[in-house]
Amino acid sequence: MGLPESSVGAESLDMDRIPRHVGCVMDGNGRWAEQRGMARTEGHAQGEHALLDVIQGALEIGIEWLSVYAFSTENWNRPEDEVRFLMNFNRTILRRRCEQLNELGVRIRFVGRRDWRVPTGVMKEMDEAIELTRKNKRLSLVVAFNYGGRAEIVDAVRKIAARRIPARRITERTIASYLYDQEMPEPDLIIRTSGEYRISNFLLWEMAYSELVFTDVLWPDFDRSHLFAAIAEYQHRHRRFGQVQ
Ligand code: FPP
Repeated sequence: MGLPESSVGAESLDMDRIPRHVGCVMDGNGRWAEQRGMARTEGHAQGEHALLDVIQGALEIGIEWLSVYAFSTENWNRPEDEVRFLMNFNRTILRRRCEQLNELGVRIRFVGRRDWRVPTGVMKEMDEAIELTRKNKRLSLVVAFNYGGRAEIVDAVRKIAARRIPARRITERTIASYLYDQEMPEPDLIIRTSGEYRISNFLLWEMAYSELVFTDVLWPDFDRSHLFAAIAEYQHRHRRFGQVQ
């Protein structure tokens, strides 16, 4: 179900029912640029401003965890130029915004594979961002980078196998305890922009009971008012976690 492209102010939200963890599949950057006759990379650049506004909106209403899909394991299949641009883009965002996010009290974390494909310069920037912001408490920003939900489950299973845990002792809790971020709570709400109704391998295990909100707004046009609209929609939902209530 699509979300109306309306603006919603923070004051219309029920502050006692703010989701603890909101995940965002930031989609539509390329289309936003193409619609304007610009290079796709311009859409990504504009997407950075959208992300900053969403982070500020999250801080304004006291969201504790915000996860964003920055680069998927499938994104390596894009044209070489775009992959190179996205690597450089992510590195420069981290460098440019790290201080600002630190001053805002944001703790930066990453989920995803740290494999040979990720340039060392990007890894270095990631490590510095983690280190600089690790004591912050207002908001944890989880950047899914070289991330795939299936890859995350495969990596968990590999670790379990390496520890020779007997099959009969493996439960859902075992698998959950080998996922990438042991502190991150499961998302309460996942938002996907750009009118696509897919999950695209984002937080597959963790989103088993998440509420999903889809909007036609392209990510570069998305801002905190759209975040608040998605939360208003979430607050109308009745979460049952598979039970009759
Ligand atoms: C999807 O648009 C968006 C991306 C692949 C990248 C989004 C990343 C950011 C906004 C920056 C995040 C970085 C950090 C370090 C937090 P698309 O190209 O798939 O758009 P399309 O579907 O219209 O082609």
